[in-house]
Amino acid sequence: METLVRKNIKNLNAYKVDAPQYEIIVNANESPYDFPMALKQQFCDEICHTDLNRYPEACFPELLKELSDYTGVYAEGIICGSGSDEIIAMINQAFVNPGDVIVSHSPSFAMYDIWATIADAKHIRVNDLPDHQPDIDTMIDEACENNAKLVFLCNPNNPTGHTFSRDDILKILDAVPSLVILDEAYIEFFGKSSVDLITKYPRLLILRTLSKAFGLAGIRCGYALGNKEIIDVLYKVKGPYNLNVLTQKIAVIALKNRVSILSNLEILKAEREKAMAFLEALNAFKLYPSGSNFIYFEAPQAEEIYEALLQNNILIKYFKDEARETGSIRFSIGTPQENQKILAIIKEVVYNGA
Ligand SMILES: Cc1ncc(COP(=O)(O)O)c(C=O)c1O
Repeated sequence: METLVRKNIKNLNAYKVDAPQYEIIVNANESPYDFPMALKQQFCDEICHTDLNRYPEACFPELLKELSDYTGVYAEGIICGSGSDEIIAMINQAFVNPGDVIVSHSPSFAMYDIWATIADAKHIRVNDLPDHQPDIDTMIDEACENNAKLVFLCNPNNPTGHTFSRDDILKILDAVPSLVILDEAYIEFFGKSSVDLITKYPRLLILRTLSKAFGLAGIRCGYALGNKEIIDVLYKVKGPYNLNVLTQKIAVIALKNRVSILSNLEILKAEREKAMAFLEALNAFKLYPSGSNFIYFEAPQAEEIYEALLQNNILIKYFKDEARETGSIRFSIGTPQENQKILAIIKEVVYNGA
């Protein structure tokens, strides 16, 4: 078997993780709020009147109409995927030849690297400057010198919460010869989308998802917004029925009811600010401003905090830094009660040790 597997796949680890079984799960930047019961009921009613023996709409016209209404982008400039993860895969399939260069800032979302590895591309990860400011000048230099196919910008960034200014985004768009992928998975928490730049920059592609602000990680629905020319290329590599009928139906219901669903944003943003103020007052960590639904900080006690939370049936994300004394923590904003519990445990570790 070994000899049959492509060489760049041999050392990849399969993504085989069990769904976490904890009382509080704040490790994956999900929403703590489930889809409203009344809308689940509406979905069930619709499914009862849907022929499940038939293939779904291959190009999801009703969903495109709702997404177009939500984003202001014409339907021909939108494509959907089974999560934005699938769209990152499609981008690699459509644009990247083995050996091509992909540039991103680092740290950022892990899937950029995984899909680059599968495409057998050379992924140049440009380390952030101090304070997790992306090193934009070096990114531009690397993209230009290597004629990079793709440049990834994650705005707001996972895991650091960093947000790019309009000027930084324009500077990159004006300088590089590449397709620029602006990952706006968390944009609803930040509020400053770059979607208006699509008409001026034909090489800009924006990634979005219903997994975060819409609280629908379970249905796997992501989408990309761009110029029709790029979107048409992505359609060439899209699987025929990549979005099943259940996903299409729930996504349409969610978008039609977006005003009520997105009202949770204000609660989550207020909770984020409260949690930031609480952690700041502990004066024990390097805390980073967040434009997203999670908080990221570096702390000498990061491992102790992670362990103490685990013992209390709470799962957060812990990044071990072998090279330095400190590790980092990222946890998503939960319900007010969940946040209170998390913060109290963090405070206890800081004051009393683990
Ligand atoms: C920056 C970023 N982009 C994309 C995704 C993938 O989202 P989806 O659930 O749509 O695949 C995530 C998920 O955590 C993310 O953090």
